[in-house]
Amino acid sequence: MKIFIDTADLAEIRDVAAMGVVDGVTTNPTLIAKAGRPLDVVIRDICEIVDGPISAEVLSTDFDGMVREGRELSKIHPNVVVKVPLIADGLRAVKVFASEGIRTNVTLCFSPMQGMLAAKAGATYISPFVGRIDDMASEGMILVEQLVSIYQTYGYATQVLAASIRHPMHVVRAAELGAHVATIPHKVIHQLLKHPLTDSGLAQFLVDAKKIPQK
Ligand code: G3P
Repeated sequence: MKIFIDTADLAEIRDVAAMGVVDGVTTNPTLIAKAGRPLDVVIRDICEIVDGPISAEVLSTDFDGMVREGRELSKIHPNVVVKVPLIADGLRAVKVFASEGIRTNVTLCFSPMQGMLAAKAGATYISPFVGRIDDMASEGMILVEQLVSIYQTYGYATQVLAASIRHPMHVVRAAELGAHVATIPHKVIHQLLKHPLTDSGLAQFLVDAKKIPQK
């Protein structure tokens, strides 16, 4: 499973990129707003740090606006993936982008049939929002399972990108279910790394190392 980091914070991206564990980056308007700089500037900077798919979301909600913005975003860097909301005009735009070789991440997916339509339109990635489904007292991971199964059954090339990941078990389940990608907040990537037995084991090794006779 590929790991993307879900942030527009350059320090967070640099931190995990230096560990070699990050294959790409996803952003959304909320995350870009937190970065406090224009979208194109932030995306350009991210492309300098990570050599992998970098999702940048269009802000228009009409077909012409999405196509215009998506084409502009795709010119920033060859690694840019245009993120498009899962609405009718969005799928029309995805169809155009697919015909022009522009990769897309169809976002705000909350049902398996939305995901099937996005695949038919030619989406490169589909983003089921797992955490936000959990927030509604439903089981977000069921959607990941359904999308993986439907795409496999019919041979769609669209990759399932588990999004709105909130905690380590979301990542474990995404991996078990065969999601192609999980986009994970910086804090959760560090939670995945941490184990108290690693820390206590290392502390004991360092204590014992002091007992090793010196030459
Ligand atoms: O990738 C989508 C993600 O950023 C949404 O996460 O936690 O706002 O539901 P969240």
